[in-house]
Amino acid sequence: MIPKSFIQDLLNRLDIVDVIERYVPLKKAGANFVACCPFHNEKSPSFTVSHSKQFYHCFGCGAHGTAIGFVMEHVGLGFVEAVEELARSAGMVVPRELPAPGQEPHKVAPDLYDLMQSATRYYREQLKQSPRAIDYLKRRGLSGEIASRFGIGYAPEGWQNLGSLVASYQDNSLLETGLVIENDDGKRYDRFRDRIMFPIVNSRGQVIGFGGRILDSGEPKYLNSPETVLFAKGRELYGLFQAQKAIRASSQVVVVEGYMDVVALAQHGVEYAVATLGTATTPYHIQKLLRLSDKVVFCFDGDAAGQKAAWRALENALPQLVDGKHIGFLFLPPQHDPDSFVREQGTAAFEQGLHEALPLSAYMLRDLSAPVDLRTQEGRTALLQRAQPLLTAIAAPATALLLRKEIAALAGITQTELEALYAIKPVGSPPRRPLQKAARPVASNLRVLLRCLLFQPDLVSELPPDWESTGPEGAAIAALVGWLRAYEGAVTTAAMIQNFQGSAHEALLAAEQAEIMQWGETFDVAAEFHGVMAKLREEQRKQQLQLLNAKMKDMDQGLKGLSEQEQALYVQLATERGSG
Ligand code: UTP
Ligand code: MN
Repeated sequence: MIPKSFIQDLLNRLDIVDVIERYVPLKKAGANFVACCPFHNEKSPSFTVSHSKQFYHCFGCGAHGTAIGFVMEHVGLGFVEAVEELARSAGMVVPRELPAPGQEPHKVAPDLYDLMQSATRYYREQLKQSPRAIDYLKRRGLSGEIASRFGIGYAPEGWQNLGSLVASYQDNSLLETGLVIENDDGKRYDRFRDRIMFPIVNSRGQVIGFGGRILDSGEPKYLNSPETVLFAKGRELYGLFQAQKAIRASSQVVVVEGYMDVVALAQHGVEYAVATLGTATTPYHIQKLLRLSDKVVFCFDGDAAGQKAAWRALENALPQLVDGKHIGFLFLPPQHDPDSFVREQGTAAFEQGLHEALPLSAYMLRDLSAPVDLRTQEGRTALLQRAQPLLTAIAAPATALLLRKEIAALAGITQTELEALYAIKPVGSPPRRPLQKAARPVASNLRVLLRCLLFQPDLVSELPPDWESTGPEGAAIAALVGWLRAYEGAVTTAAMIQNFQGSAHEALLAAEQAEIMQWGETFDVAAEFHGVMAKLREEQRKQQLQLLNAKMKDMDQGLKGLSEQEQALYVQLATERGSG
């Protein structure tokens, strides 16, 4: 675990403008810096970086965060990895601390990773000692170099081999990592026996799971680690760690279905391939890959299952599309998967296939219109119905517009008619306008208070100690205040933003970050703060008075209807009038 104070020190040491400039050229615009947003496609810059407050905000797509968040999003790194990268660039060493008992239970204790690492080492050792397993890999055309690059190993026969990795076979870490299974009688045994082992590695290079292939025929062909605290199938891609460099260098990535496809492609020089882990391609996968490269090509098996997987990938890709980025589909001949294809036809043929991959839009139009007869009205109606959920799911404005035009043309209606039919607002009005141009609603007092605390966190010391309020804004303020009060020393805006990234309050804070982007360094935040506190106090005073008045009315005994304490409060509130 990285100590919180280090995150604060790191953010203090870095200059977000320098960090972002390594990836995106920035232009000075008033107190801030601007650029065309690297996270969505746009022609005029709405990506804004606050130098004084050390955070960024895109008024077009809403992307926001600190220098750490930027590196995570832009480079596709995990939090720890991004912190390490930035620390290195600032000449700092990341200290580690052990989690306090009961704290941050979602963080995984490092020893589970260690255990996975030892298991990987063990399986690799075992491979060296198994002529049968080596022979299998050779028959499949793998070199020793590629096997070692992917950490491929062998789980020998036997039920409790992994006991050698821990003090006792009953150690629960074996269960927690999914390496060992417990049956209904409480008996424990190794999950993987007599299988070729493919370690699944996260983007930090840590082993989080395994896929195990049976050596010849048998069921199941592949056995995979279950979902564990380390391993979420829908978020990980097999081979991504090994492929990262090649993906950047070739600015494309190929998504295939199988472990062997990734490994065989790498063996043939196609090092930018990754595989989903026996699950459909998720929107998360697509988002992750589109951040890493401009071109994603899905290349599934040529069989019916592969066709189905391709369509699922298309559906999940639609909300993630970014204008200007390319998504394509390479359909192999029915008898092939990428592994057999590249071995039989060679690297050049495969790369040619990638080059000629069917663009997502063409694939969509083809498969939507194939089963319907466009010469009949029924056929055209069916097309419009089938296309609706797909067209309305597309977030990228230009892509969506072009596809709507094409579907409308196929159905013999105008684009306007199609948009009216689907109840789509005419294009040209982006989902969120730049804030400067939009009419701003009057912010609630609580919003203004939130904004002040975000702009100048040390104002927390001027809040009454028993301060409280309700609603989502009240909850966000309470969380901020709680955090600030627990923190020793002064907190910066960036550290606060970083801390609440991913929390329930993130959206609310992001909206206020956008607002304070407009406040220059000379903004009199103290005046704003005291002004809004006075209003809040007055609001609260009126509410309390109303409550007491209602109670007195109920009792119909004037002040005597109240308790002594309430009476004192009533007098105090009533005489405060106008003084706040
Ligand atoms: P394939 O059967 O296409 O695997 O399944 P493959 O990689 O081509 O395997 P080889 O060439 O026969 O060795 C594709 C993927 O689906 C998952 C695995 O992730 C596999 O790589 N799968 C398949 C399973 O999880 N379990 C299975 O029994 C089969
Ligand atoms: Mn295969």
